[in-house]
Amino acid sequence: MMRKLALPVLAAVARALLGRRTRRAIALVMGGLLVALGYVALRPAPPGEKLTPKERERIYAALLKHVERGGPNHLHSRRLYHYAPPFAEAAGANVHVVQAAALLHDATKEDGKGEPKEKFCTHGEQGADLTKAVLSEIGKSETFTETASEAVREHMGPCGFNWSYLSRRFMSKFCDRKFPKPSSAEAKVLYDIDMLDLMTVDGVVKVAELRQKNPEFEKEPLEASVRSGPDSAWKSVVDAKQTLLTEKAKSCGAALAEHTKTFVDGLDFAKVTDVPALKQAAAAYLVASPLPSCLPVVPPLTDGPSP
Ligand SMILES: [Fe+2]
Repeated sequence: MMRKLALPVLAAVARALLGRRTRRAIALVMGGLLVALGYVALRPAPPGEKLTPKERERIYAALLKHVERGGPNHLHSRRLYHYAPPFAEAAGANVHVVQAAALLHDATKEDGKGEPKEKFCTHGEQGADLTKAVLSEIGKSETFTETASEAVREHMGPCGFNWSYLSRRFMSKFCDRKFPKPSSAEAKVLYDIDMLDLMTVDGVVKVAELRQKNPEFEKEPLEASVRSGPDSAWKSVVDAKQTLLTEKAKSCGAALAEHTKTFVDGLDFAKVTDVPALKQAAAAYLVASPLPSCLPVVPPLTDGPSP
């Protein structure tokens, strides 16, 4: 009872003691503190603004100006575009903002500024600028544009420390810098679907291929690139799973990790000795064990103007 009364009594005493201006100043400082501490989001949630079919085509065309058609970045961005609806709906995010951001989030990975490593480590910032330019150009509102652009800036991961490997997660270790964390619901969903795509069997093949072919990485046996090395593709799956943010993505991530682990554990590296053999093994596994149904099925790629 005493506790219940304490706050109103204190507030009344403060009101009696303080002038109007002082109270307003204190309220402003308190509000600023809450924003700074992340308890109150400064950016309002985007309204129910949507993308028209024509706008989708223009955003997709902007992506294709920057990445190779049919290449890994094109296909990955398209998959995220199709994954977006159920995860955005479950998280209360604007599906259309997430889809616009999904199409453009990796658009500067191929022709962005800087030498390869710098380009990779800054593709969130460069992609955010591109997203802003594309969405402003097609006439989306400032809130829509800002929310999508910030989601792209904040999609870099997985970051932080992986205690099960006693090692930093991939992005923190490789880029050795800090990245902003996803702040809006839309940014969290974009981050999560990007991580889920990394956790699939194809995601493992992509990382292993990168480690085998990219001169940035030291030469290592295929098995090290896939599962046994300190920075293996399997470690990336664990890194990604540990950082998922939204509830639906967490439960999908658990199913995906299980599915991918069965593939990785079942590989016989006496037979699977190179990247083409790994790709063949992955294709055969996916025929026998399709992806968990929490990931929406992506329609086949066409030459048409729609993603
Ligand atoms: Fe990315």
